[in-house]
Amino acid sequence: MHNDLKYLQVSIEDGIGTILLNRPNVLNAINRPMVSEIVHVMEEMDQNENVKVIVLGGVGRAFAAGADIDEMAEATPLQLELLNQFSEWDRISLVKKPIIGAVQGFALGGGFELALCCDILFAAHDAEFGFPEIQLGVMPGAGGTQRLTKLMGKTKAMEWLLSGDRMSVEEALNYGVINRIVARELLIDETKKFAIKISKQAPLSLRLIKESVLKAVDYSLYEGMQFERKNFYLLFASDDQKEGMKAFQERRKPNFKGR
Ligand code: CAA
Repeated sequence: MHNDLKYLQVSIEDGIGTILLNRPNVLNAINRPMVSEIVHVMEEMDQNENVKVIVLGGVGRAFAAGADIDEMAEATPLQLELLNQFSEWDRISLVKKPIIGAVQGFALGGGFELALCCDILFAAHDAEFGFPEIQLGVMPGAGGTQRLTKLMGKTKAMEWLLSGDRMSVEEALNYGVINRIVARELLIDETKKFAIKISKQAPLSLRLIKESVLKAVDYSLYEGMQFERKNFYLLFASDDQKEGMKAFQERRKPNFKGR
């Protein structure tokens, strides 16, 4: 499976689909074919019933040091418009299964934007986050100004986006950008362990909770509450709701089927 991938290492084990960016000689700089591969593999995992949770990490000393500058350097605005350069990235946020990011080393520019597409982020002590685009005479183009601002608020996001400074893991934890700091050598194992824990939860609940939380970012409180409520009601159409509540009453562990 996936023998044809040029820029990723992919595996599926214990219900976890693991995707590792694999261009370590350029710190996993993200070129267009790599984005296509990420989107393709994630969409496939989203449909694969052997995958409950997706883990996204990087091979080598970085998560990703940004979009591939060599690929972009000579681009014209028209080429970027006609290629619709960043539209493929949008498909990552349409993936229904939880995506847990494991960040070591640099997560810069497009690398930070990719990390911000994850639902939960674990980071090693050496991880550094930032938007250095300002030093290249450009700006983030795959969601950085929007996602960082929604995450940490206008004032703080301005500081990081306008300075191009790099954020340490301690700062990232403090700002709520990451969930946990993990020793470098344990990063992937700890991330997978957490992914496995989540993967035991009722699959339909996972799906609809993720969708509802993401809506909270876009919707008003009222619209978000309506969306949440409908999803709550919908789960009562599932066998897993009957099983979960019956198991509680019978003082046993539920056996969820995802339907
Ligand atoms: N694109 C292309 N190649 C890159 C790259 C990138 N974003 N980042 C690193 N590389 C390459 C380097 O050119 C170098 O290649 P060679 O060995 O062939 O020279 C290799 O990776 C290793 O990098 P360095 O020797 O520079 O390693 P370092 O430890 O000295 O520095 C770094 C690391 C600070 C991350 C530095 O590489 C750097 O500043 N990289 C660019 C970071 C950046 O500006 N990212 C934003 C890109 S624009 C973007 O992402 C737009 C968007 O919104 C989508």
